[in-house]
Amino acid sequence: MTYNLVLSFLFLFLFLLQFTCILAQAPAMAPMPPTQSLAPASLPPAQPSAPASPPPTISSPPAPISSPIVASAPGPPGPPNVIKILAKAGSCSTFIKLLQITQEVSEITSLLNNSNRITMFVPSDGAFLNLKTGTLNSFSDQRKAELVKFHVLTRYFSLLQFQTASNPLQTQAGGTTNREFPINITTNGTAVDIATGIVNASVTSTIFNDNQLAIYQVDKVLLPLQFFVPPLPPAPAPAPPKPKKDVPSTDSSPVNVVPSDATSLLPHILQGIVYPGSFFFFSLCFEYMS
Ligand SMILES: *[C@@H]1O[C@H](CO)[C@@H](O)[C@H](O)[C@H]1NC(C)=O
Ligand SMILES: *[C@@H]1O[C@H](CO)[C@@H](O)[C@H](O)[C@H]1NC(C)=O
Ligand SMILES: *[C@@H]1O[C@H](CO)[C@@H](O)[C@H](O)[C@H]1NC(C)=O
Ligand SMILES: *[C@@H]1O[C@H](CO)[C@@H](O)[C@H](O)[C@H]1NC(C)=O
Repeated sequence: MTYNLVLSFLFLFLFLLQFTCILAQAPAMAPMPPTQSLAPASLPPAQPSAPASPPPTISSPPAPISSPIVASAPGPPGPPNVIKILAKAGSCSTFIKLLQITQEVSEITSLLNNSNRITMFVPSDGAFLNLKTGTLNSFSDQRKAELVKFHVLTRYFSLLQFQTASNPLQTQAGGTTNREFPINITTNGTAVDIATGIVNASVTSTIFNDNQLAIYQVDKVLLPLQFFVPPLPPAPAPAPPKPKKDVPSTDSSPVNVVPSDATSLLPHILQGIVYPGSFFFFSLCFEYMS
């Protein structure tokens, strides 16, 4: 009678142990998008050319970069109205249309309203006209949304701060690895240049700057490399990732991926305890029963 009771408890115990083991293992097995090429992302921002030999001549005011609309005193409460700013600046109607049809304008407004700081690159209408005919129309709605986000940085850069930007920079469209949506920014004196791998563009003027939102006009549409060159194949054998917690926020650096070795050991340790344990308990049971 008591043996039976003890046996039942033992089996229940073992069953629960196995169950927890399986549970502990499951998340570790869950596939995750390959987070490859950690190395390039953590490289120092090598800026091969012009290594500070001509120290940034800050003293001379940026000649070509005029600032037609500079922070109009204490504005009304609430985030700046990006559409109004662009409409006032002129020759931004194509980008305004894109901001509206992709809903990006409400995203930007809400980011600004939550005290996030943003940098936008706005190609002029002329820049859109210079695209190969039909380029924009050939983009799906998703592509159009990615294209607009590719022109937005969820960080604020003044013109001077571009000089210390560490490439590659993450745009709102996505990460900086595996041909995602990074841009490189280089400066030469007062010139600010943007490289996407497909186009080299230059900042031609400051449209708006209030130390939270900076809007710069650029002379070319920033076309993402990923639109034209397929992403690299995933790494052959990605290490078992650590159990997924919450979704990483877009503005967090993609570099801080914790090596998953430590966490993935846990199931093995549990197995090491459970399996010999079961064997021991089963031997005990058989001894009692016989
Ligand atoms: C900005 O946020 C406040 C609350 O923090 C909200 O009441 C207001 O409606 C928001 N405005 C916009 C334009 O989103
Ligand atoms: C920087 O600009 C100057 C002239 O404005 C040019 O001579 C020089 O080659 C440029 N340097 C780089 C690295 O582009
Ligand atoms: C951007 O900069 C990174 C790091 O300096 C470099 O590896 C990459 O090739 C650059 N990409 C472009 C398009 O210039
Ligand atoms: C962009 O500039 C880099 C370096 O100046 C050059 O190697 C590359 O060919 C340029 N790309 C385009 C598309 O003009």
